[in-house]
Formats: sequence, C-alpha cells, structure tokens
Amino acid sequence: MANDFDSPTIDTLTSYASQKWTKYPGTIGAWIAEMDFGIANEVRDFIIAEAQRGTMGYLTDEDRSRSLTATSRWLSRFGWEPEPERMLLVPEVLEAMRQTIKHFTRPGSAVIIPTPAYMPFLTIPGEFGREAIQVPAIHDGNTWHLDIAGIERAFSAGAGLLVLCNPWNPTGRCLTREELEAVCAVVAKHDGYVFEDAVHASLILDDDATYIPYATINDAAAAHSITSVAASKGWNIPGLKCAQMVFNNPSHWQRFKPISYPVTEPTSTLGARAAAVCYMEAQAWNDEVRAYLASNRDLLEERVVTWEGVEVAHAEGTYISFLEFTDLASSGRFGRRSPATFIREEARVALTEGLLSGRDYATFARLAFATPRPILTELLDRIESALYR
Ligand SMILES: Cc1ncc(COP(=O)(O)O)c(C=O)c1O
Repeated sequence: MANDFDSPTIDTLTSYASQKWTKYPGTIGAWIAEMDFGIANEVRDFIIAEAQRGTMGYLTDEDRSRSLTATSRWLSRFGWEPEPERMLLVPEVLEAMRQTIKHFTRPGSAVIIPTPAYMPFLTIPGEFGREAIQVPAIHDGNTWHLDIAGIERAFSAGAGLLVLCNPWNPTGRCLTREELEAVCAVVAKHDGYVFEDAVHASLILDDDATYIPYATINDAAAAHSITSVAASKGWNIPGLKCAQMVFNNPSHWQRFKPISYPVTEPTSTLGARAAAVCYMEAQAWNDEVRAYLASNRDLLEERVVTWEGVEVAHAEGTYISFLEFTDLASSGRFGRRSPATFIREEARVALTEGLLSGRDYATFARLAFATPRPILTELLDRIESALYR
C-alpha cells in the first residue's frame, strides 16, 4: 500500500518533540535535515521485533559483516560494489571525515571545503588545528559548479584534503563525470586526498541524474580517497547512529585496520542492523519518498520562480534548497536582519542561516523540503506573504 506522506500535521509533528520541530517554538521547522515522513514499515517492524526479543547487546562480527555486505550490494545500483572487507561501520559520516583528516592527511595541512557547504564541514578541520579553506562555487543563478581552479589554488597553497560532498548539500547538485575527472586530476597532481561524503546518494530525485561514486572515476581517484555513505538520510534514521566508511585504497585500509576498533565500536547495534534492513528490504519506501520529494521540489521551485528578488537552483538530489535573497536584501527588505532571521521572525518558518554554509552566503538561506505537501504549501505561503506584504 502506498505510504501516506501527506497526513502528518504541524500539531502532530510538534508533539513528537523532535529537534526539528522544537528548537524554534511556534515555527515550521525546515532547517535540519530530517524528513517528516516517519520511517519505513520494514524498519519499524524490525525495531519492534528486536525490542521484543531484547537483542540490544553489543554488535557481533556477523552483524558488522551483514551490514557492510548489504551496503556494498546497495551501492551496486551506482555501478560500484566495494568489498565489505575494506569497509568499516562508524556511528556517523562526520566521524569518517574526522578519521580521514586525522590519519590520511599531512600533519597541519589545510582542508579544502567547496562552499556553500554542509555547515559542520567548516568547523571540523579546526578541531584538529587545521585551517578550512573555503572555495566558493561558481554560481550562475540557476546552477552551481565546483571551482576547479580555486580548488587547485588551495592545493598549491599546501592544502592536503578536499571534502567532496556528492550529492551536494546544500546546492542539490549531483556532480557529473567530467567534474569528478577534473577534481581527480587536480588532486592527483598535488598528491592530495579526498573525503567523499555521499550520505545523500539515497536521495537522487531526477531520472536523468545519478550519484557517480568518486572511486569509480579511475584508479587514481580510488587510490587517494575515502568515501562515507549511510542509510540515515534516505530512510530517515539519523538518530540510529550508523554510517559506513569505504577505504577505496586497500593499502590504506591495511594501515587503518589495526587502529579501527575504537572507531567502529561506538556504532549502534540497532543502527547497524537497521541499515541492513533499509538497504536490503526497504528500497520501495525510499523510491516512494524520492518521488514525493521530487514533487515537493517541483512545487518549491515553481513558487520561488514567481518571487521577485529570490532565486533557487534546481535540486537534482537531496531534499535541500539553497535560496538566494541577494536582490531583495540589497533593496533593504530585511533591514539589519539576515533573510533566515527575517523569515523565522516574520513568517514563523525556521531555515538555516546562509552564513553557516560559507562566508559568501549571508544573503542565502537553506530550506529542507522533506515535509508533507500541505505543510510545504503553508510554509511557502507564509514566506511569500512575509516577503511581499
Ligand atoms: C552532507 C551531510 N553529511 C553528513 C551529515 C550528517 O551525517 P551523520 O549524522 O551521519 O554525521 C549530513 C546531515 O544532514 C549531511 O547533510
């Protein structure tokens, strides 16, 4: 039976007391990357059965292997089936990023973050005493492209790692083979490394877009990269704390393996098992969600096109749009406030501040559109009337 993604209301969602719906009381939450559609029946039934059996102990080697094998099989839909033996369960994608910085970059070397970026990318390098070099994307109003020359300049200046987010939060882009080849050429030339965050691979919305795994580009790309994926976005289970880290260079796995235990150990037992359920048994739910999200995206983009002074690029993947309010801001519409603050206070819709995605984006705001269509419509009505009243 088709899932009813339309029915959750603002009142029900607020009563669940999630972070999304409680952090800014009295607002529609469209800031954090969570979906308002619950979870797949297969995942729900599995968790209930686990609870009834009481099987909440530590993760076994068999569990790990089953979960990683399921991940690898799921990734085969993108023409990539990495051996589970060189993959590791970790609690979060961001932990995979931390481990990559710590163990696979030159001491003290800077980290390149193409912007606009997922917000924590900009602060995590600092945890290791590393500079985050922001490389703003080339933006022509309708689309976003990596600035390959800018990335090359950052490597020339001594950076050691590029954080490649594909599909790209918050632009919604799915990078093309040509872009990935260009990235690879620059990284290889400068003997750099790539951390590929593909957590949104399970959220491709367009039929003519896909996720191209960086490691499949060529041997050089595989030799200098680590990838992380997770079921957390596409099946809406980020609270279950499980992601997968793929060592694309087998020798790098051999180097990391002896020190991997404390990194993998905190992964949640339930999360690791649920990830296998998502990848192996709940593809139909993910397919339905993606079709629903694509319609939400269409609605959002159709509405925004009619808003004078506001722009949005087409999101091929993710459930995130990065709205540009530069023209409205320069006409003084927001006074001293940022667009996101203005919209939170005047429209009662909570978006993410653009500046958190990079220093160039004070006049942008990030919007997560994974919400029932009646709520999305209400949210768009509220923003429109606050902007133009
Ligand atoms: C691009 C990206 N990476 C990582 C994460 C967080 O993933 P995790 O909770 O597994 O660290 C998110 C969450 O929104 C994200 O959008």
